[in-house]
Amino acid sequence: MDPDKNYKPLTKIPTHIAVIMDGNGRWARARGLPRLAGHRAGTENLRRVIAACVEFGIQYLTIYAFSTENWERPQEEVSGLMLIVEDVIDRELEELNRQGVQLRHIGHLERLKPKLQKKVLKAIEKTKDNNRLILNIAFNYGGRDEITCAIRSMIADGIKAEEVTAELVGKYLFTRDIPDPDIIIRTSGEMRISNFMIWQAAYAEWYVTPTFWPDFDKDELYKAVVDYAHRERRYGRVLEPSECVPDADETSPRC
Ligand code: IPE
Ligand code: IPE
Ligand code: MG
Repeated sequence: MDPDKNYKPLTKIPTHIAVIMDGNGRWARARGLPRLAGHRAGTENLRRVIAACVEFGIQYLTIYAFSTENWERPQEEVSGLMLIVEDVIDRELEELNRQGVQLRHIGHLERLKPKLQKKVLKAIEKTKDNNRLILNIAFNYGGRDEITCAIRSMIADGIKAEEVTAELVGKYLFTRDIPDPDIIIRTSGEMRISNFMIWQAAYAEWYVTPTFWPDFDKDELYKAVVDYAHRERRYGRVLEPSECVPDADETSPRC
């Protein structure tokens, strides 16, 4: 990647990009390294992608960092991942704060060590007034868990059956004050949702690339956003001619 490269201005920018950062293990294996080296490289890459999002004017970036199912991985990998998170907060918080990044978390913090929980909460508090980019970290997050918790809370609040609407359900999710993702990017070629934002993904555009997460750089992000700009989002409707999006070669509209 050429750091001084000039990018053609983006025509349509997604408000919210969500990323399933996958392929750290395979990136490491391809280099004869342990899986944790892949996770470290993935974390290094995150810094570059955050900076690119700030530059491209993205408002929300959600990253899937640890799923409710990832606890099933070998103990050594799970504790290594926890250490990496701690390290990242220690090393990156000042810089993220300087860039105007607001940190948020979706998922459950309770299962993390108290020291790590405190660090995460402190980082969220420290950055709460920033508004350049909202970085929403899905850690110990699962879409089914999120919906289950929402149902429990609605029942606990005494909501009546006839009062339940999709809008109300949205207000009980971890993402209550975040718009749905416009585009979900999954690296490493897997074409599955893996329990990520299963409610919020209803009308997201999907972008799958074979690139492993540690190699998903600014150029790749730019490509994904350009691809998004040429998607026609129909939400089940038939578009009016004025809403039609030109082809990637910008010769003719597609509808
Ligand atoms: C994604 O990379 C990171 C986490 C799930 C924490 P993986 O660790 O899933 O990498 P692969 O899929 O094994 O290559
Ligand atoms: C999804 O990746 C979870 C994260 C990226 C944090 P996985 O690697 O855990 O997903 P599966 O097991 O391939 O579906
Ligand atoms: Mg994986």
